[in-house]
Amino acid sequence: MHRLGFALIVSSLALGVAHAQPKGDPAAGKRIAERWCAGCHIVSPQQRTGSADVLTFEAIAEKSGGDRDSLASFLTDPHPVMADIGLTRREVGDLVAYIDSLR
Ligand code: HEC
Repeated sequence: MHRLGFALIVSSLALGVAHAQPKGDPAAGKRIAERWCAGCHIVSPQQRTGSADVLTFEAIAEKSGGDRDSLASFLTDPHPVMADIGLTRREVGDLVAYIDSLR
């Protein structure tokens, strides 16, 4: 009985964590951005070439005004041109942390 109670507490804690916005690691987000996003977006101040008509990550960061939730929900349900990237929740959290660090 005690074991069951413990298991229930652990699993509800795990659910609580899964629901909270993941903190995200900006360094990991930068690596993901350089790999998956740099083909279209200028993802860092060091990057010189990209599609001229696509917003840079700095501009996106500026525009978002620190609203991590809407960035995360955009990336969870991405724009059609990047539909097949298929980011995990953790990757989304890392990317949001990275983009937000550019402000
Ligand atoms: C194939 C090109 C392409 C790739 C790859 C790409 N994007 Fe985009 N992205 C665009 C275009 C074009 C737009 C603007 C049109 C739109 O919103 O649908 C855009 C818009 C965005 C926006 C919204 C900007 C706004 O208007 O507020 C975000 C955030 C974003 N991209 C993040 C990313 C991230 C993160 C990645 C990498 C995981 C990525 N994009 C990869 C082409 C791309």
